[in-house]
Amino acid sequence: MGADHDRRDAAVETALYQPTFFATMMRWGWMDTVLRQRARDILRRSGLSRHLPAEGLLLDLGAGTGHLSEAVMRRMPGRRCVAVDGAYAPPARLAARMRRRDFQALSGDGARLPFADGCFDAAWIGFVLHHMPEASQERVLAEAARVLRPGGVLVLLEDTPATERERRTTLAADRRLNIEPASAPHHYRSPAAWRALLPTLGYVVDEEVPFTRLFPPATLRRVWHRAFVCRTVGRGAIISSPDPPPPPSPSAMGGEK
Ligand SMILES: C[S@@+](CC[C@H](N)C(=O)[O-])C[C@H]1O[C@@H](n2cnc3c(N)ncnc32)[C@H](O)[C@@H]1O
Repeated sequence: MGADHDRRDAAVETALYQPTFFATMMRWGWMDTVLRQRARDILRRSGLSRHLPAEGLLLDLGAGTGHLSEAVMRRMPGRRCVAVDGAYAPPARLAARMRRRDFQALSGDGARLPFADGCFDAAWIGFVLHHMPEASQERVLAEAARVLRPGGVLVLLEDTPATERERRTTLAADRRLNIEPASAPHHYRSPAAWRALLPTLGYVVDEEVPFTRLFPPATLRRVWHRAFVCRTVGRGAIISSPDPPPPPSPSAMGGEK
């Protein structure tokens, strides 16, 4: 039963995360409507847009379908925006709406961005980092610091359960929202842990905005989110090694054969 269950979960996960499956869902207009409304709700509750400069080059890192980029650019003709995501791309409906805007979407890894140092005025990372292990979170944040100009703004939007009970509620709601199987790992940090980490990677945290009850209501209980509004100082921490080196073999260490 256990092995069958694991195999079924793995198959469901693989199917759900196929770009073609996602593209099919996006062709249904109601998904687009839900994601537009969600993006507007995130802006209203987190204050994301008001923390970003009114003009300049902005980066949406881990943009998903790009609905947050669209909401951030609404009625702001001076904002230019690049959306980067490892898996998703803007669906046709959103791409058509954005055609007249200064908006580009690329697929890429947030830990290795194809941009020069200091070329963005501001960036945001929305509900992305808890989907990757802690070391990868740090690499993505360091990479964002590299591509931001000194004094550039980063807004980090994260799920931030502070207790075990909050973590369980957040996990259940997030899995439901993202249509994830129970095996999908999530790597949450508490508000205090983010507050301690960000300065080590070249950021000053200017403000924290707690918010909850985002649309759509994936759970009837509260889910804890936070916006960390940061500025870059200096060049940030350089985290260059993508993976820790393998331990030396016994023979290389001159140990027993
Ligand atoms: C929960 S979605 C959030 C999408 C969007 N930011 C939003 O709030 O609607 C997380 C996104 O992070 C992307 N992602 C995960 N790891 C990434 C990486 N290393 N580089 C770029 N994008 C990544 C995933 O493909 C996914 O689209």
